Amino acid sequence: MRNGGICMAGDFIITGGRPLSGTVRIPAAKNSVLPLLAATILCSGPVRLRNVPPLADVNTSLRLLRGAGGAACRQGGDVLVERAPTTCRLDAEAAAQMRASILFCAPLLARLGRAETVLPGGCRIGARPVDLHLSGLKALGAQCREEGERLILTAPSGLRGADITLRFPSVGATETLLLAAATAQGSTTLRGAAREPEIADLAAFLCRCGASIRGAGTSTIRVEGRRTLAGCTFAPMADRIVASTYACACAAAGGRVELTGCAPATYAPLLEILAQMGCSVECGPETAVISRFGALHGVGKVFTGVYPALATDAAPLLAAAMLTARSESSIEDVIFERRFVCAEGFAAFGGRVETAGRTLHIAPARRLSAAEVRAPDLRGGAALVIAALAAEGTSRVRETGFIDRGYADFARKLGQLGAQITREMRPVREKRKKHLQKTNFDLQSGPKDDTIQLYKCSKRNSAHCAVLR
Ligand code: UD1
Repeated sequence: MRNGGICMAGDFIITGGRPLSGTVRIPAAKNSVLPLLAATILCSGPVRLRNVPPLADVNTSLRLLRGAGGAACRQGGDVLVERAPTTCRLDAEAAAQMRASILFCAPLLARLGRAETVLPGGCRIGARPVDLHLSGLKALGAQCREEGERLILTAPSGLRGADITLRFPSVGATETLLLAAATAQGSTTLRGAAREPEIADLAAFLCRCGASIRGAGTSTIRVEGRRTLAGCTFAPMADRIVASTYACACAAAGGRVELTGCAPATYAPLLEILAQMGCSVECGPETAVISRFGALHGVGKVFTGVYPALATDAAPLLAAAMLTARSESSIEDVIFERRFVCAEGFAAFGGRVETAGRTLHIAPARRLSAAEVRAPDLRGGAALVIAALAAEGTSRVRETGFIDRGYADFARKLGQLGAQITREMRPVREKRKKHLQKTNFDLQSGPKDDTIQLYKCSKRNSAHCAVLR
C-alpha cells in the first residue's frame, strides 16, 4: 500500500450469516505504537517494542525513521530501533500517507533542532488540522514556516518548557507536546490534555527511558525536561479499537467471542452499549466475553466523545452492529465530521441508514443481504466487513488496504472464529505521477492572516497498489 492514502491491496470475499465462535488475543495498539516509534527518536540507546503487529502504518513509521538515517527493523514480532535518525527531513511520500507522521516532528526538533515534513495524510474522516500541535510547539520555542511544499520547524535556541493550555484535548497534539517537553529545558505544564490511555502508555514509555512526567491520563500533565533519554524494552498497550471491532462483529453475526489481553475498562462504553442492545457481556480484568444468540435491539441516541466516552473510532463499528437491530438507533460523532462515509456501503447491504451532519440514523432493517462495497477509510472499512459478516450471501469489500493500516491478519483471525472470508489480491497497477495540490493550513487557530500554505500529494491523482503480505 502506498501513495498518499489510496489504499487498494485487494478485496475481502465474505459469505455472511455464520455465527462467530472462539478466542482472539488482542494485539498491541496502533495508536500507541506509532507515537512510541516517534518517541524512539529521543532515545540515545536502543529501543525494543514487544509484539508489534505487522500493520501498514507501522511499516510507514519504520520508513520514516530509516528515511531520516535511523536504524529500525522488525525482529520476530518485535520492532527494534537501534539508532535514532541523524537527519531532520522526513520522507515526503511516507509522511503524506499517514496522519501520525506529524508526531515525528517534535522529537526530531528536540534532538536535531530542525524538522522538515509535508502535511500529514491519513483517513479522510474530517478536516484534521495540526494547528494545536504547531501552536504548542511555538510556545515551547519552535518556529514554524513553509518552504514550497514542506513544513519546516526549527528551534534555534532549543526547546524551553512552558505553560500550555489546549483549547481541545487533541490526542495527537497532547502526544506532540509530551514528546517536545520530555527533553526541553525546564518544566512544562500541559492543561486541557487528552486523557486517552495511549497518552498514559506514551508517558510510561518515556518515564521508563528516564523522562519525568506526572499526570498523564488526566487533563493536567507536568513534565520536567531531561537532557537525554535512554532506550528500553517496552510492551505497548493492547488495541481497544481492535477489541471493539471483534466485539461488534460478534454482536452483528451472533455467536460467542472471547477477547483476551485487553482491559475491558479501556472500551467500557462500547461494551455497555452492546449489553443494552441485548448481548451478554462478561468482563475480567483483561478479558471480555461477548455472546449474542437472540435478537439485537436499538438503543436510541448515542454519542462519541473524548476518553472515557465512546471512542470515535468505534462509532462505525458499532453502527454496523446496529444495522441488524430490531429497533432504531443513532450515533453522533462529535470528533470528526466525516466519520460515516461508510453509510453508503451500509445502504448497499440493505441497511436503512441516513446521515444528517455528524449523526448516522439507523432504522430497523429486516435483513441484510450481500453487496459489493468499497472500504472508504480504516474504521469504515472494518465496519463494512462486520456488515458483510451479518449479511446473507457472498459480499465483496474492495480497497482493503485501508483496513491493513490498523488490522493485522484480519481475514485469518475472523476465519479462526468461523467466518467464511478470503482475500483476493488485485494485480499491482503502475504508479502514476503525483501532482501537488495546494492546501490551506491553519498555523494557529486564530485569524486568517496566520494561515500558511502547504502542498500535499493529491490522493486522487496517484493510483498504485502493492501486495503487503
Ligand atoms: C487520534 C487517533 C485516531 C483517533 C483520534 C481521536 C492516532 C494515530 N490517531 O487522532 O485514531 O480517531 O485520536 O481519538 O493516535 N484537532 C484540531 N487541531 C489539531 C489537532 C486536532 O482542531 O491540531 C481536532 C481534529 O480536527 C478533531 C479533534 O481535534 O476534530 C480530534 O483530533 P485528535 O484527538 O488530535 O485526533 P488525532 O490525533 O488526529
